[in-house]
Amino acid sequence: MTSLLPRACATEHDTEELGIEMGQHAKAGDVIALYGGLGAGKTCLVHGVAAGMQVLEDERVASPTYALVHEYMTHSGLILCHMDLYRIESMEGIEALGLEDLLGAHDRVCVIEWAERCEKLLPKNTQRIVIETRSDGSRVFKELYHS
Ligand SMILES: Nc1ncnc2c1ncn2[C@@H]1O[C@H](COP(=O)(O)OP(=O)(O)OP(=O)(O)O)[C@@H](O)[C@H]1O
Ligand SMILES: [Mg+2]
Repeated sequence: MTSLLPRACATEHDTEELGIEMGQHAKAGDVIALYGGLGAGKTCLVHGVAAGMQVLEDERVASPTYALVHEYMTHSGLILCHMDLYRIESMEGIEALGLEDLLGAHDRVCVIEWAERCEKLLPKNTQRIVIETRSDGSRVFKELYHS
């Protein structure tokens, strides 16, 4: 996955294409933490990951407005778990979601929007990706190395 980043994405299509490549490389137990403000392109990237992992449901991964955790079965039997923590306000809320168990599960790939809200629960192998928006509107996806 590291070889895919950094990546400059001029359009939504490029962002989705990066997600597809990430989804094709994804392995059981992977945790991908996304960092980037409102409208950075996190959900767009997850749409690509879902396509790259060949999710079986007809419906595309929707921005989870009400449900914070969406799970999808994929062609290979791996589960894609998409979490959006934007609406989470407290650590108690995160605990109530059972996030710790989901993140430690080895039968799935977890992709987390607003991952800074569950920083303490992220496992050691987490891949952290920062999304920067340039003045021309394009996005740059970079790997963030955690010390
Ligand atoms: N590389 C890109 N260049 C320009 N626009 C992009 C790019 N990638 C995504 N976008 C656009 O950015 C907008 C926001 O995308 P998206 O919903 O994925 O953001 P988000 O980070 O999930 O936001 P939120 O924090 O609200 O969940 C969309 O309209 C999308 O078309
Ligand atoms: Mg989003």
